[in-house]
Amino acid sequence: MKLLLKFLVCGFAAMAVSAYGQTPVPIPPTLSGNTIDLTVQNGMTEIYPGIATHTIGYNGSFLGPTIVLDAGQQVTLNVHNQLGDTTTVHWHGLNVSPANDGSPHVIIKAGETWSPTFPILDKAATYWYHPHPHGKTMQQVLLGAAGFIIVRDAEEATLNLPRTYGVDDVPLVFQFKTFDAQKQIVMDDEADNAVLVNGVVDGVVNSPAQMVRYRLLNGSSHRFFNFGFANNKQFHQIASDAGLLDAPVSMTRLTLAPGERAEILVDLSSEQGNTLTLKSFGTELPQGFPGGTMMMGGMEGPLDNTDFTVLTINVGAPTANPVTTVPTALTINEVLSQNGATSRQIGFTAQPMMSMTNFFINNKKFDMEQVEFTTEQGRVEVWNITNQTMMAHPFHIHGNHFYVLQVNGATPPPNQRGRKDVVTVPPMNGSVKLITKYENYGDPVLPYMFHCHILSHEDGGMMGQFIVNPAVSGTEEPIQQGTLTISPNPGKGSFIIEADLPQAAEAVLTLHSFDGRLLETRKLEGLTPGVQQIPVDFTGLAAGWYWLTVRSRERVFSGKVVVE
Ligand code: C2O
Ligand code: CU
Ligand code: CU
Repeated sequence: MKLLLKFLVCGFAAMAVSAYGQTPVPIPPTLSGNTIDLTVQNGMTEIYPGIATHTIGYNGSFLGPTIVLDAGQQVTLNVHNQLGDTTTVHWHGLNVSPANDGSPHVIIKAGETWSPTFPILDKAATYWYHPHPHGKTMQQVLLGAAGFIIVRDAEEATLNLPRTYGVDDVPLVFQFKTFDAQKQIVMDDEADNAVLVNGVVDGVVNSPAQMVRYRLLNGSSHRFFNFGFANNKQFHQIASDAGLLDAPVSMTRLTLAPGERAEILVDLSSEQGNTLTLKSFGTELPQGFPGGTMMMGGMEGPLDNTDFTVLTINVGAPTANPVTTVPTALTINEVLSQNGATSRQIGFTAQPMMSMTNFFINNKKFDMEQVEFTTEQGRVEVWNITNQTMMAHPFHIHGNHFYVLQVNGATPPPNQRGRKDVVTVPPMNGSVKLITKYENYGDPVLPYMFHCHILSHEDGGMMGQFIVNPAVSGTEEPIQQGTLTISPNPGKGSFIIEADLPQAAEAVLTLHSFDGRLLETRKLEGLTPGVQQIPVDFTGLAAGWYWLTVRSRERVFSGKVVVE
């Protein structure tokens, strides 16, 4: 009661609740430019009429603003942590260095501000941001810490696509949540009993009678959506997680796993005055997909294996100059060649075998202090992921997109052939083969994460991490690792590097910024094998610290150099 009073008196940012049990879907405000401020904070939100629900939001009480960025721009994000608890902010899907990625290693303590700066190297698509503190991701995300990132680029801008934000280009985050009798959000993602769209239940959106683009995000902890219109109206997927598809894919159903995004076009041209109902057809999900039916009758929540409405669309008058057609072609996705790729095996298991809660990657629970493997910048990676458990797991990798080569040994459906960062690995010996290459960043110390995007699984340790070492050319597996002696350190201008290269006549020196960007590569030739004293000149480097790596065919050395 005290809570409710406070809420009514202070008039916390409440969602407008109409008398008809249908709530207008709020469109998050946008933030853009080179400097963006986000404050993560606790709040009270009126999700159910007259009831204050404890929530978390960025720059508000619930969810967060949409960050709109242009490919090629530089951005600084100042994240102020007012949560009273440790958090991180992960830019899910963005190609950033491990230091900027907001993984569990990059924590923001209560009361502190974290200010990563990075260039936008991504393609036009729909990304998102959310907390990632180890063991607490589900709690913070379910309470509402999540927002969209929209990247625009020159290629997408040439296409005749709807892009008036909030009008014919609408971001929609769909989230299963569990509310208790007091309508508070509880951390039991197996009991999901409500579906929210942009933070409201029974959402209704007004859309103009023309081609409308909806950017769909499954921001749930656990369950999959299987979107489709009640009247089975066709729609067209134009983008997957991290970029446009080659061409629009027409469909009547779209399965979206937790963490996954899709942009769709819906032709509302002849629907003025009509009401469309978007549903999730849980009854049509394959067995073992959370939200459908589970093997052995496991995990039945009230919304499992049912069909229910997720959004009402009221179609009004068209805007001036509406888009009315679906483009025939969108982009050309160039899938990497597997030639010379390093292949890795990633296996999901459960303990015991039939368990629906206790999952492992390569028979191991995540350990912050242990790195699963090391690769290097520019190396093509093929990952074979197998799932011996009874349920489907959405597999996600940080810091880069990938292409799905195969699902269960077959070419994936057309809507999964674009750039992705989440892929569903089917249950019962299901498999996925994907290809990726970490081109832009290397960091010898901080890892990138990979994990199941079912947040209770992730928090429970269904996660791993890997190092992408800064690039070198013409070497195989690095053999021996060691530390460089650099003097003077700190220093300015010229330095002497000492490294023991017993057999090498040549080596490669690379310099990375503290956040993992490759700044410079130099070839060191004509060396006499043995302990080397290599003079280098770094005049002109800004003060700060850098990673220096010297690599020969058989050895790799790295160390921190502080420039005054
Ligand atoms: Cu969206 Cu590591 O997560
Ligand atoms: Cu991510
Ligand atoms: Cu999982």
